[in-house]
Amino acid sequence: GPWLAFFVFCGYLIGSIPFGVIISHLFGLGDVRKIGSGNIGATNVLRTGNKLAAFLTLLLDGGKGAAVVFIAYYSYGELAAKTSALGAFAGHLYPIWLKFRGGKGVATFLGVMLALHWPAGILTCLTWLATAAVFRISSLAALVAALLTPIYLVFTGKEPVIWVALIMMVMICIKHWSNIARLVKGTEPKIGQSSGSQH
Ligand code: G3P
Repeated sequence: GPWLAFFVFCGYLIGSIPFGVIISHLFGLGDVRKIGSGNIGATNVLRTGNKLAAFLTLLLDGGKGAAVVFIAYYSYGELAAKTSALGAFAGHLYPIWLKFRGGKGVATFLGVMLALHWPAGILTCLTWLATAAVFRISSLAALVAALLTPIYLVFTGKEPVIWVALIMMVMICIKHWSNIARLVKGTEPKIGQSSGSQH
């Protein structure tokens, strides 16, 4: 009903808050959209060399997704939690505040997964961390984690959330298209290195 639409819309507005842009400005690092990959996420904030700013971006972009899910769940229930999760995720990808030019959704995906079903969310986060630790490539870690998440939901017995994870998985793959092209060519930069190609 109208309440469900209201939650999804509020989720979208909160998901639209571009913490990478805000924190980079607050730290005096300039416009993160003009450096590295041009992305607004923590990986690109790290290319400024400021680890704290990158960590805060990761935390807040993830936190906004988790917050939206918790608020929707405790005030309206499971369906509101799932649809608002997609609202927040869509907000990060296509933010109203940035003329719909948003990020790649990885931190927000991790945040909503932890909030929707923490056992699968933890496995997704561990996969992301382990892949990043081994290969030192952020986009590869995100793609591996996103692709395995539906399987983790089966393992942990939370099949009703799979369609939510699948939609986010597909969107993460689409948003990482230029990263995938660089991965195939072997030119994707390692974590902390400046991106080979601009935007
Ligand atoms: O979080 C996005 C990450 O997976 C890739 O970011 O800046 O290397 O395109 P970037």
